[in-house]
Amino acid sequence: MKNANQSPSDRLIIAADVRTRDEATLLTEELMPLCRQFKVGCALICSAGFNVAIEMTKMGASVLIDLKLHDIPNTVYEASFALSKYGIWALTVHACGGLEMIKACILGTRNGAMETSYKPPLVFAVTLLTSISEQQLNDELQVKTSVSEYVVTMAKLAKLAGADGVVASGREINDVREACGNDLLILVPGVRPSWAAADDQRRYITPAEAIKRGANYIIVGRPILRAENRRDALMRVLDEIASAI
Ligand code: C5P
Repeated sequence: MKNANQSPSDRLIIAADVRTRDEATLLTEELMPLCRQFKVGCALICSAGFNVAIEMTKMGASVLIDLKLHDIPNTVYEASFALSKYGIWALTVHACGGLEMIKACILGTRNGAMETSYKPPLVFAVTLLTSISEQQLNDELQVKTSVSEYVVTMAKLAKLAGADGVVASGREINDVREACGNDLLILVPGVRPSWAAADDQRRYITPAEAIKRGANYIIVGRPILRAENRRDALMRVLDEIASAI
């Protein structure tokens, strides 16, 4: 497996779902000694500006830009080209944009990084948003297949395009691993330790279960962000990951 010998803290990505630059930098300062990976999504970027991601990167964090790029190939190329000049660690793109678009995204990261001293960011393709039910997939999107088949199809497409990994729910880890082998990284959101509230996550999985099933990375937000003692909550998540490695 691509990252089989990574430590527990290398397997966790903290969702930096806060609203302001100050909150984001405080969070980074507070938690980075224990975990370096942070996910910066469209909500934080829209409220605090993209500079917050650059600042976190400069503080030493490994930043995953979760903008879920999805547009015509040339536009996605330009976006990933631009993002790759900031020294970010990873980014996300929608697999359903198609083979050519995913390839354009990857090429953009390589060409963008080449103009700097940074490595190209990892490209994670989103297979299907976990908020989409099978009924929505079939009736609204008119995709007449099961969620798991669709997720596997998207994962295979991402692999064919050369993506480093995919984002999938805990339920689909086994299917994706079986269909795509051990070289494709699997990043899993919707993770809840047994001691935490489910919040609005419906199809969640515990950190230990996700790692045991073969997730390379798990994303955890509110159980850590909203804990009375965030470092303590983070350490408990890391312990749970360690128990499953
Ligand atoms: O707070 P919580 O742990 O639920 O945060 C999960 C993070 O992962 C959020 O930033 C959310 O937007 C993101 N995410 C998700 N489910 C997906 C894709 C991303 O929860 N399918």
